[in-house]
Amino acid sequence: AAAEKGGYATFMEKEINEQPHAVADTLLGRTDESGRLVLDELRISEEQMRAVDKIVVVACGTAAYAGMVAKYAIEHWARIPVEVALAHEFRYADPVVDERTLVVSISQSGETMDTLMAVKHANDLGALTISVCNTHGSTIPRESDAVLYTHAGPEIAVASTKAFLAQITACYILGLYLAQLRGGTYADDAASVMHELQDIPAKISDLLGRMDRVKEIARFMADTRSVLFLGRNVGFPVAMEGALKLKELAYIHAEGFAAGELKHGPIALIDAGQPVFIIVPSPDTPHELHKKVVSNIQEIRARGARTLVIAVDGDEDVVPFADEVIRVPKCSPLLQPLLTVVPLQVFALQLSTAKGLDVDQPRNLAKSVTVE
Ligand code: G6P
Repeated sequence: AAAEKGGYATFMEKEINEQPHAVADTLLGRTDESGRLVLDELRISEEQMRAVDKIVVVACGTAAYAGMVAKYAIEHWARIPVEVALAHEFRYADPVVDERTLVVSISQSGETMDTLMAVKHANDLGALTISVCNTHGSTIPRESDAVLYTHAGPEIAVASTKAFLAQITACYILGLYLAQLRGGTYADDAASVMHELQDIPAKISDLLGRMDRVKEIARFMADTRSVLFLGRNVGFPVAMEGALKLKELAYIHAEGFAAGELKHGPIALIDAGQPVFIIVPSPDTPHELHKKVVSNIQEIRARGARTLVIAVDGDEDVVPFADEVIRVPKCSPLLQPLLTVVPLQVFALQLSTAKGLDVDQPRNLAKSVTVE
């Protein structure tokens, strides 16, 4: 078993460290020499893809957070409205879906019953269905019109890590492909974003080499009872994913919030010593979101929060209000989740280990939930 884990103590640790490859392999072979995206494997005609006027992402758990990241990216690049629905909610609602709707399911295993039933429901309603999936020959891709495989390799640990990064990468590819196909404002950006994505694996490796302090913080926090996570824009789903990892692995109460929502309720939770992770957008994020999140940090710190700040290299604005600054390499704002989630995964893994828990098989959870 030790050999299977490649020298790591747990599958999760191994899979976290495989993330540079998961992203690189998912990018592989999706562009021609000129940098144009070529997705022949999709088996949906360009004409059908051009006619799409709405996208609905259906997924559960971590995959649904990848879908939330996808919404920001696809809407920006392709200018198509995107909704994200939890698969089990989609199925029993009355979703407005027709033949011009593209239903994108995201599933690592390809066997999650809730997601499978949502895809079948979408097929019955006449939608085009694409599966973003990590498992060849699994049920969801077979039930879908098309598949865009993630190439993260087998994921064994129950809590998803490398599959999440690969799912986000695949969704970027899909968004850029749609942008290229539809020839809008951002069509010309597709090649340059694909180019930038090629640099992300090296940045993840760099980041993985800087996790000593995060591990130390986690070990000191083994008795913590509640942790909050704040993010904005693509940092919002990362906050939710950070909280989910902590629930799954360390059985600690955790919640992720959109930073702008803080004043509408969650700020009441802040009292002395409350640990809060804040995922700070890079300073070049549009609409001054960086400044807005920095002032959120200031507000909660003034109320006693212990601020654990995830910020890009060189962002000095956060320093005066941070108890800890966790640095991540710079990249374009929409691509940031591929980096900012990594310290949160490592944090949850380390806290779980510090509590002596079973990292790879947390209580009550299954890797693939094949019942409703
Ligand atoms: C289970 C796992 C989660 C996972 C979710 C979706 O609940 O414990 O880690 O995110 O299923 O799984 P899927 O295979 O559909 O991505």
